[in-house]
Amino acid sequence: MSLSRILIVEDEEKLRRVIQLHLESAGFEIMTAAKVEQAMPLASSANLVLTDLRLPGTDGLRFIQQLQSKGIQAPVIVMTAHGSVEAAVEAMKLGASDFLQKPFSLDHLTTVVQKALAMQFLRAENQRLRDELDTRYQFDNIVGRSAAMREIFHTVERVAPTRATVLLAGESGVGKDMIARAIHQHSPRKNHSFVKINCTAIPENLMESELFGYDKGAFTGAANSKPGKFEQADGGTAFLDEIGDVPGNIQVKLLRILQERQFERLGSNFTRSVDVRVIAATNVDLRAALEEGRFREDLYYRLNVVPINIPPLRERKEDLPFLALHFVQKLSRELGTTAKEISPAALDRLVDHPWPGNVRELENTIERSLVLASGDILQPPDIRLEAPRGHHPANSGQSAPFLPEGETLEHWEQMMIREALRRANGNKSQAARMLGLTRNALRYRLSQMGLESGADEAENGVQLNA
Ligand SMILES: Nc1ncnc2c1ncn2[C@@H]1O[C@H](COP(=O)(O)OP(=O)(O)O)[C@@H](O)[C@H]1O
Ligand SMILES: [Mg+2]
Repeated sequence: MSLSRILIVEDEEKLRRVIQLHLESAGFEIMTAAKVEQAMPLASSANLVLTDLRLPGTDGLRFIQQLQSKGIQAPVIVMTAHGSVEAAVEAMKLGASDFLQKPFSLDHLTTVVQKALAMQFLRAENQRLRDELDTRYQFDNIVGRSAAMREIFHTVERVAPTRATVLLAGESGVGKDMIARAIHQHSPRKNHSFVKINCTAIPENLMESELFGYDKGAFTGAANSKPGKFEQADGGTAFLDEIGDVPGNIQVKLLRILQERQFERLGSNFTRSVDVRVIAATNVDLRAALEEGRFREDLYYRLNVVPINIPPLRERKEDLPFLALHFVQKLSRELGTTAKEISPAALDRLVDHPWPGNVRELENTIERSLVLASGDILQPPDIRLEAPRGHHPANSGQSAPFLPEGETLEHWEQMMIREALRRANGNKSQAARMLGLTRNALRYRLSQMGLESGADEAENGVQLNA
């Protein structure tokens, strides 16, 4: 079973025995070896290796190298003689995850072991999410596992090869630009231009000439002719962002482009034809604008051939862990920072936030957090939200190399247990498996946390190595 199994490699028999008994009573399953040659065949089934550095025959450092060359991922904790810090440092450089200096207290031993296992769990969990992300929840670079996003991917796949007009609706930061580009990329037009027209950014009096171009002498200062955005997009895609802000006189001309693919440059009566695919986006409800008479009904229906509504992030929180991981990975690479993992508790903080700025705000938050984080792993205090929402008390902004300030291992263990239960939808056997515990061991911990009556404690006590 997947009880956490520890391999102890120690030549001194008495010490080996003491450690074994102690760890067994703490609920671990133990394997022992007196030298590397005996240890090697056992290592592949261990969840953690605790090894002396000075061993007869092959020494501990060689052992670490051998474990690595065999691809064994279990964390290794080395035990060193008093005063031999250099050896410990050497072992850490080779990949040991921690060290214990002899003589050590048994309590300290438990702490170090649990810390290493917690870390291993976190790494494995992040890796699992990453694998899922890579294989299932990504369309190009667009991440989504919620039903809404998967439906959108599906629509994008179906609509991309056609010339159908698409109307993207959603709050700012939900990914409208991204989806528009994906549609273009998956269309036969991908080798032609994708021209983005930001309708709010263009002053009203310049809009017509920007969109449709002008001929020499069309207005004072028009010394040369200039093609507009639609001509630039010929053969490709025109993306009209914030379409709700287009003034009435332009709306008529857009309607004509959509119906006939024809227009005239400003100051010219020569009719031009273009082959464009139109994608429009809006972050306001166009129907309200319709009712108020600010938006033409005929244009609305021409645009709304294939509507894609992207829900705000707060309505698809299943996407959050995957988006967060995606940004941690992408931004760590871009920023050259070391933080590469994110703790379940930090993910919880992200899930709790309402994200008024949607995915854009999440991306910025992760970037800021990565830049300011102190360790390899983003912990709750490392998450710098734009507007802290009260329920997370003052973060000092400093965190210890491993456990954030003010947190204890016990606290951390409890967070992991809660997270496992959450992911297992409360199923204890499943949660226990994720944590590498027996169901009884999990129950025992839950009763200690006051989350379950200790009634069945007697059935497991601390003898969990059955
Ligand atoms: N589903 C997603 N997966 C990955 N990145 C996303 C996703 N949605 C949005 N983004 C990122 O968030 C930011 C905002 O997205 P954008 O498409 O500009 O939003 P909008 O156009 O709706 O305001 C961009 O940097 C984009 O790359
Ligand atoms: Mg946008």
